[in-house]
Amino acid sequence: MKTMPSARDTGKIESIFNITDLPSPPILVQRLMALVTSESSVTSEIAQVIEMDSAMTARVLRIVNSPFYGMPRKIKSVEESVTILGLNSVRHLIVSASMYSTLKIPGSETILKDLWTHSFAVGYLAKNLMAGSEDAKNDTFIAGILHDIGRLIFLKNAPEKYRFLYKGEQRAVSRTDEKYSFGMDHQQIGGELALKWNFPLPIAEPISHHHSPSNALPAYCVIAAAIHVADIIVHGLGVGNSGNNYVNEYDPKAWNILKTSPEQIKEIIKASLININRARESFSEI
Ligand SMILES: [Fe+2]
Ligand SMILES: [Fe+2]
Repeated sequence: MKTMPSARDTGKIESIFNITDLPSPPILVQRLMALVTSESSVTSEIAQVIEMDSAMTARVLRIVNSPFYGMPRKIKSVEESVTILGLNSVRHLIVSASMYSTLKIPGSETILKDLWTHSFAVGYLAKNLMAGSEDAKNDTFIAGILHDIGRLIFLKNAPEKYRFLYKGEQRAVSRTDEKYSFGMDHQQIGGELALKWNFPLPIAEPISHHHSPSNALPAYCVIAAAIHVADIIVHGLGVGNSGNNYVNEYDPKAWNILKTSPEQIKEIIKASLININRARESFSEI
């Protein structure tokens, strides 16, 4: 039986995907990524590159001032945001938001906003479900923000074909339909895009396996499980919309991988919901 490729098979998916090439990061994003990875880069230099783009600047300030970060006062400069959030967090947030902008589809603004709202909520809740290091939590947040990005690639490249898969009033596209029509599902194409945009494996691999976290590489299956559980909860709560109105099928191994008790999860949901509801407004813009 032929096995579906995972994010680590980068390049293979593009060759079997017969719609079009995956989009590349804009030049400014590429510059920023090169700067932040270079050892000699300093905060002010990075801030300068971000400030060259007014939309990118507005995005950074909106995100850093959103209730998720609980800043005691309004942060007004990009340089301060970079200092507070850390270079990696800012880089990943900007690249994620740019990915959404690159995939903007005229006439589909509502779909984009709904998906962003859904995804931001999943990222936030998944981050809170993670018990690991700060780095692991940050990777979880970004992987959560991007987990369903593959749906946008289908919509952008084959709008008619993908819309056709929506089952009338039910507004849902199954992964089986995606695989049948495109040769892969939104997890795989999303993971491939993340690798192409230079996201590391702890972010790309969970995107590729967010519906079946036990299939992810062992080092990344905890992040995938956190996103999987958060996705189901956010679907259940009806925050945003991912293009699928049903609560997803549950991977029974996810609880064991996550090692979070039902009582803990209940408390985390309660605490996260307060912020998710408060932040609905800041969700609505990318
Ligand atoms: Fe998904
Ligand atoms: Fe989702």
